[in-house]
Amino acid sequence: MLKEKIVEEIRENGFITFDRFVEICLYNKEFGYYTKKRTKTGLGEDFVTAPEVSESFGKTLANYLEKRIMELSLPLKILELGGGKGFLAKDIVETLSPENYTVLEVREKPGWLKGVNWVKSLKEVEPFEGVVVSNEFFDAFPFKRIKKINGELREVVVKERDGELYEDTIPFGGKIPCQIGEGEEYCLFIGWEEFLKELSKKLKRGLFLTFDYGGKCSEIAGKKSFKAFRKNRLVEDYLKYPGETDLTALVDFDYLSSTLEETGFTVERVTHQSSFLLENGIEKFIEPGKVPQALMLLVDMGRKFKVLEATRAHSR
Ligand SMILES: C[S@@+](CC[C@H](N)C(=O)[O-])C[C@H]1O[C@@H](n2cnc3c(N)ncnc32)[C@H](O)[C@@H]1O
Repeated sequence: MLKEKIVEEIRENGFITFDRFVEICLYNKEFGYYTKKRTKTGLGEDFVTAPEVSESFGKTLANYLEKRIMELSLPLKILELGGGKGFLAKDIVETLSPENYTVLEVREKPGWLKGVNWVKSLKEVEPFEGVVVSNEFFDAFPFKRIKKINGELREVVVKERDGELYEDTIPFGGKIPCQIGEGEEYCLFIGWEEFLKELSKKLKRGLFLTFDYGGKCSEIAGKKSFKAFRKNRLVEDYLKYPGETDLTALVDFDYLSSTLEETGFTVERVTHQSSFLLENGIEKFIEPGKVPQALMLLVDMGRKFKVLEATRAHSR
């Protein structure tokens, strides 16, 4: 199983870096948390996301996109990053009937989802003008955990003893984009830059919107950023059940913004999810009997989640 594969890889070098550990746990073809074949593809896994909580999320977003697409004279072409179980795609497609809606997702396409293209790699996406949207995509990249110990930056690695996994640290030679204090930890996502460079080649002109949980560097530094979830609960024993536990971290929106700027986007604003939903008329889209779910989007998730909006001017 996955643990044996990890132990085998550790035995080659004595350890694996934490980002490699996350990559195997989430995306190993056979046993990865996101990529393994599931018997159940509905709700009730280890996390519930905004599009799964209530249709009002996707419909409010669609309402906003319609307005911005007109303002920016963009074609109604949408690329969704990390579409998961397809709920956001369904709500946007039902509301906007776009010319083209493509979902980039390593998981299998849900059988019930109609009217969307489903691709597993950005290579399959033709350059286009339009919109790129995502919810909880950038927090699903592998990440390093960097700690400050005795004034030095060290990275967490995973080692094994008698087939059991444990954490250790080694010196970290790189830099982190956010200052941390003694004993604090920063989660450094790996691969954003490479991904966004590729994306900026595909999005010739348009709008980019992403929702995620996290905040500015000053808001997240010193907070417990790394989180592991299993069966809907926050757990500590994530080393025992690789592939069955979702591993994630808070998104540093300052770092995400600077990476977007470096790769050809212009960041327009970062705001709370709750403000975004209220400004864009969520009350019109709340289904009868679903007020508690909409409140969850506004109150509970509403302050923890942010939305970043960026634009991409014409590129050749
Ligand atoms: C936390 S889930 C969010 C799913 C969905 N957006 C939602 O809100 O319900 C992150 C999703 O991104 C997908 N993902 C992460 N990195 C990816 C990549 N580089 N290419 C395609 N899909 C990716 C994962 O498979 C997973 O389904």
